[in-house]
Amino acid sequence: MARMIVVDRDGKEHDVEAKPGLKVMEILRELDYGVAAICGGLCSCATCHVYVDQSWVDRLPKAQSDELELLREIPDFKESTSRLSCQVDFTENLSGLKVTVAPDS
Ligand code: FES
Repeated sequence: MARMIVVDRDGKEHDVEAKPGLKVMEILRELDYGVAAICGGLCSCATCHVYVDQSWVDRLPKAQSDELELLREIPDFKESTSRLSCQVDFTENLSGLKVTVAPDS
């Protein structure tokens, strides 16, 4: 089983099982300390905002314009590491991916 490292809002690191084929958001929303993902992945709520660990940023497909537009409206947006986790497919190659759940904004 592939894995993901998730840092919660208190800074605690969790090593979680992650199923390839799901969106990163779908893995995170099952966790008590994960994301709300209110819009269900329609790229319209930004409640699935995460920071991707710097060492993984270049291994993910780039964000599309609609994702970037929404991200830039968030106060806690960070140019280099912010992503909407509903727009990121989790694949076997991403096993070990480390993300931090962004503050509720
Ligand atoms: S779940 Fe709403 S934007 Fe990602």
